[in-house]
Amino acid sequence: MKKYFLYFWAILKARILKKRVPIFVVICVTNRCNLRCAYCYEEVYDRQEGEFTKEAIFSLIDQLTDMGTRYVSINGGEALLRSDFKDIVDKVKSNGLLCHLSTNGTLVSKHLETLREVDSIAISIDGDQLSNDRNRGEGSYNKIIEGMKSLKQAGIKFHTHTVITKNNKGAIEEILDMAQQYNFQAQFSPLRIEDSLDKSLGLNDTEMKEVVERLLKYKKGGRPVFFSAKAYDNFLKWPYPYHQLTISKDVPAGYHPIRCNIKRFACHIEANGLVYPCIVLVNRFKALNFLDAGFKKAWDHLAENDCKACHNICCNDQNLIYDININSILNAVKIVRKRLKKE
Ligand SMILES: C[S@@+](CC[C@H](N)C(=O)[O-])C[C@H]1O[C@@H](n2cnc3c(N)ncnc32)[C@H](O)[C@@H]1O
Ligand code: SF4
Ligand code: SF4
Repeated sequence: MKKYFLYFWAILKARILKKRVPIFVVICVTNRCNLRCAYCYEEVYDRQEGEFTKEAIFSLIDQLTDMGTRYVSINGGEALLRSDFKDIVDKVKSNGLLCHLSTNGTLVSKHLETLREVDSIAISIDGDQLSNDRNRGEGSYNKIIEGMKSLKQAGIKFHTHTVITKNNKGAIEEILDMAQQYNFQAQFSPLRIEDSLDKSLGLNDTEMKEVVERLLKYKKGGRPVFFSAKAYDNFLKWPYPYHQLTISKDVPAGYHPIRCNIKRFACHIEANGLVYPCIVLVNRFKALNFLDAGFKKAWDHLAENDCKACHNICCNDQNLIYDININSILNAVKIVRKRLKKE
């Protein structure tokens, strides 16, 4: 609990002192992947650029710690393919930081001892077997379920992340039933069609609204939907077609977006070293590479980002916490308490 308190305190302190601090940092430690999801952005697994060496990651984690980072999110590609995955987790933890992992769940049973050290784990699953395997590849569902069962048996908590596409928009209820069975919280995000390999999987705007209204109803009804109601509500109020992901100039009159705090308190580092404000702006912002410029310069450069608002539910859930939105903080505290509770 102490580390979560320090994380929250770092946000408060940076706000009071009006400073930009990279408190939450996503590091994509590889582009390699053992799955071939139909929508994976930018064909991540086929990018040929090398991945950071362990030494580069260790040096990055030291630079981050010096600059005030409190939470490191290990992402990919599939991070569990790295033979030094345990060393990376150990480094994050020995620097006193919270550690998150986003994984496709198919390899977790081989890493249970290391995963005990990880503070939060997100497993991607896209519905029942048929819907999931259409999105994430044949045979993936059984491997993900096997991974979830091994985590449960080992007493390691996790939550899930589901990307909603035409293949699985009817599978939300299955995921929520599963969430009750396995005792996890479920994150849901509509596919970012513009970044999807197969663009035909995207929902149209009416379908997106219908799905998000359903999620909001479930959230308000007490079902284990992870993101806060306000982040979903903000999505429904978006004043443009959903293919417009962000607003960077004037916000239309009468629309009150969730303020973007991510650009002050977070960033996303791709496996080639480019430092972006967030996942949405990957390849949309002229980023600097920390391997050439050093992390501080790449981070300072993000202050030039003029993006004012977006409809991304995951980013906005985080934006609300950084904005000290009481409902979102209570939502996060409830999730953390469940995570820390022994079963
Ligand atoms: C790129 S993956 C990396 C971690 C791991 N390989 C996994 O699948 O969880 C992180 C998350 O992004 C999601 N994702 C991939 N492409 C996406 C897209 N075009 N729109 C929205 N989410 C996407 C994945 O489903 C996954 O939940
Ligand atoms: S979404 Fe994750 S599991 Fe699927 S191909 Fe992309 S990196 Fe791999
Ligand atoms: S408004 Fe959204 S897309 Fe823009 S920088 Fe903030 S989090 Fe990223």
